[in-house]
Amino acid sequence: MLSLLLVLLCASLCSSSSDSSQHQIETLTDNVLVLRLPNEEGSMVFVPLTCGEAYQNQPVTWKKNGIDVPALQGNQVKVRVEEMNGGNYTCHLGPDGEYLNHTVIMIQVENRTVILKEKSPEEGHIRCSAPNYSGSFICTWTKAQYRSDAAVLLVKAERHLENIPCVVAADGSSIQCQDASCPFREEQHRIALSIYIYSYSRLEEYTKSFYLRDIVRPENLQNLHTTDGKNYSWNYPDSWEKPCSFFSLHFQVKVVHNEDTCHSDKHIRLHETDDPKFEIDFKTKRYIICVRAQDKHTRGPFGPWSYCSVNRNTVNCSFLELQP
Ligand SMILES: *[C@@H]1O[C@H](CO)[C@@H](O)[C@H](O)[C@H]1NC(C)=O
Ligand SMILES: *[C@@H]1O[C@H](CO)[C@@H](O)[C@H](O)[C@H]1NC(C)=O
Ligand SMILES: *[C@@H]1O[C@H](CO)[C@@H](O)[C@H](O)[C@H]1NC(C)=O
Ligand SMILES: *[C@@H]1O[C@H](CO)[C@@H](O)[C@H](O)[C@H]1NC(C)=O
Ligand SMILES: *[C@@H]1O[C@H](CO)[C@@H](O)[C@H](O)[C@H]1NC(C)=O
Ligand SMILES: *[C@@H]1O[C@H](CO)[C@@H](O)[C@H](O)[C@H]1NC(C)=O
Repeated sequence: MLSLLLVLLCASLCSSSSDSSQHQIETLTDNVLVLRLPNEEGSMVFVPLTCGEAYQNQPVTWKKNGIDVPALQGNQVKVRVEEMNGGNYTCHLGPDGEYLNHTVIMIQVENRTVILKEKSPEEGHIRCSAPNYSGSFICTWTKAQYRSDAAVLLVKAERHLENIPCVVAADGSSIQCQDASCPFREEQHRIALSIYIYSYSRLEEYTKSFYLRDIVRPENLQNLHTTDGKNYSWNYPDSWEKPCSFFSLHFQVKVVHNEDTCHSDKHIRLHETDDPKFEIDFKTKRYIICVRAQDKHTRGPFGPWSYCSVNRNTVNCSFLELQP
């Protein structure tokens, strides 16, 4: 009885995993075919390849990753792809083997990604930010351990059918994009980003959708200083929008014990202000004063902390010292 159940179970599983209706083949770029599968195991799909119309009546031979595959002959062939076993199929002319064309078969497993590390549950795998509203933004990601070979195949960025050009950094871990739409206009549509990353034959698509106003993060504040050891002041970041009266910032001031860091939850003071200044109103002689900014109107993300470390009469705001 048990063995009969197992046989039935296997029959149903095996037939569902080889069900041809569960895979999809799509042309992603000129020479790249993507085979989409519901899972990694147990699949076997025949993928049709064409060397090209130009070679219709030629004696065409094929190689996979540079190795002859004698079973594949002719301009049009069907290659067997098992599980994640894609590759670069090149077609060649006759016995001399002159290179004619190639098709790369990549495999994308539905709803499963392993190439990039998740930054955080809220952000997902890709973090995007911009220092102002000029339309230029950067997105970064981190490759998982053992996936350092991973490379970007394609980036698609658009806002309401309008294409946004992006450039991939040399190390393959970030892109810089430039949205040309007017920064002073209210944003109606989100920017939609798709990044296709591959490692060997595995292809993964990471998507993100956001308003520019949600990713604008002011950079470090300029010239955080004190002249009297009591009153601190600072300036807007150089990269922030001008005029400042229109694009105002809101500041958070946090004072922590000097063995802590700006990220500590144990603070001596936590103060919110729109004025770029803060007056010390406590007696502690050793502390760190931390200041960061966000857009006052959108209340978007905070920028990084700028800080001064104070030890009695020595104030160290990144190498700036006040003599007693
Ligand atoms: C993948 O996720 C989508 C949306 O959440 C869902 O509709 C689909 O059934 C999932 N596919 C698989 C194979 O789990
Ligand atoms: C080369 O192969 C691609 C498909 O991978 C095809 O679109 C293209 O037309 C072929 N080139 C020529 C010259 O036939
Ligand atoms: C596939 O092979 C062709 C011909 O050798 C080469 O030009 C192309 O860069 C290869 N593509 C990949 C993704 O390896
Ligand atoms: C700090 O500034 C306030 C006004 O902004 C002023 O009243 C006060 O005297 C200043 N403190 C010191 C020590 O200069
Ligand atoms: C806005 O940020 C971009 C970089 O994203 C920078 O090139 C530009 O100079 C900044 N604008 C201002 C006004 O500083
Ligand atoms: C000031 O801070 C910098 C950077 O944190 C550090 O290298 C330097 O030693 C500090 N100077 C003093 C006098 O504490």
